[in-house]
This record gives sequence, C-alpha cells and structure tokens, in this order.
Amino acid sequence: MIETLKKAKIVVLISGSGSNLQALINACETGHLNAHIALVISNRPQARGLARAERAGIKTQVIDHQDFIKRADFDKELARSIADYSPTLVVLAGFMRILSADFVDQFASRLLNVHPSLLPKYPGLNTHQRALDAGDNEAGATVHFVTTELDGGPAIVQAAVPIETHDRVEDIASRVLVVEHKIVPLAAHWFIEGRLNLRAGAAELDGTPLPIQGYVFRSSKTTSHHNSQIPSSV
Ligand code: GAR
Repeated sequence: MIETLKKAKIVVLISGSGSNLQALINACETGHLNAHIALVISNRPQARGLARAERAGIKTQVIDHQDFIKRADFDKELARSIADYSPTLVVLAGFMRILSADFVDQFASRLLNVHPSLLPKYPGLNTHQRALDAGDNEAGATVHFVTTELDGGPAIVQAAVPIETHDRVEDIASRVLVVEHKIVPLAAHWFIEGRLNLRAGAAELDGTPLPIQGYVFRSSKTTSHHNSQIPSSV
C-alpha cells in the first residue's frame, strides 16, 4: 500500500484491443514505470482492453458514448470520473473519441495520446491506408500532448517502421503497434519522472524543446508484440 502511494497515478482511456494499455500494465509491473494504473475507462462496452485491465486487477469503467446525445455531456461524465482519481497522467491509448476543448483544458499538460502515423503527416483516421495510397516507404506512430487541435498537439516521441512491398493495412498496423508498445511507456516514464513537460505550447524533454516530430525513437526490434520494456538508453 505504501508502495502504491509513492507511485504516480495513471488513468488510461481505451476503445479497443488495449494492446498499448497492456504495454503500460507490463511497464508498471516490471517497475520500468514508477506508476500504477488507477482506472481504465472505455467508451465501448465490448472493448477487449477491459479484460486486460481486469486480469491485472485494475478498476474499469465503461462510459458508453452512445448513451449521450451531446458530445459535451459524454465529455463531462468522462472528466468527472477521471478527476475523482486526481491522476498524475491521463493516457489515451487507442481512444477513438474527439474530446471537447473543455475536457482538454481540464487535463491540459497531463494528457498524452498515441496516434498511428508520423505526425504531422496523416492526422485523423485511416492513417495506414493513406500512407499506402501515397506510396510512402515508411509508416509509424507518434505520442503527443493533446491539445484542442485534432492530433495536432506537440509531439513527444515518434517511431518509424518500413512499409514493405505488398504490405496490406493490417501488416503495417501490426508493425506499427510493436513500436507503439515501446514509445507509449517511454513517454509516460519521462512524464512521471518529471523530465517531460508541456511549456508555452511546446513539448520539452530535460528542459530542451523537442523537434516538431518529437524525439526520434530508433529500435532494432520490430518483430515482437511483447517487448514493451522501456529501453535503458533513453
Ligand atoms: C493504436 O494503433 C493507436 O495508435 C490507435 O489505435 C490503436 C489502438 O490499439 N489510435 C488512434 O487511432 C487514435 N486516433 P490498442 O487498442 O491495441 O492499443
């Protein structure tokens, strides 16, 4: 219990499979992340990530967006649930809802999102299809601070993967997830250690503003979905 009290508190928002949530759970369990996940909220009752949380003994809550006529009311309910836990950090890990300005303002500077593209390329949906259509030779993911601009907040860390000949969207998506599982816990780790801040609209790591694409994460291992440990070099 005392251990838990010393740790940072994270709330994770999901909509689907929750593999990034799993990467965060693993990083907490191995001690790579000095945090505990206090609550997982899904806007979809069927999200598979809910079972991952339950298996790890983490409290879950479903706030089904379909129960709300107005987006603002859903966001208010979501904000209320999160605020009850006074989290150090809120991570959108595959959370497929656009959040209102009021919500973003309430949690500004402690709200991270992972987006499956090399931002600023391809904000929004269908990122891998768009990369294929454009004939790109690489795809990737970016963790960024959330602002009111859709997928437009300052980038923290970005990782690229190759697009191979004959790749389908699913091939790219699974290759990208492998690197997401590294950069999501990494960004959370930096934040919790106080190394990462949002200051005057810019992401800063160790007091230095990050470049437009964030820290460029390079990894030699892009074949395993399970290697979610934070690399010791960063
Ligand atoms: C991830 O690829 C994440 O980047 C993407 O959803 C997937 C969730 O996977 N997020 C978005 O598209 C947000 N706009 P997961 O549920 O297995 O973590």
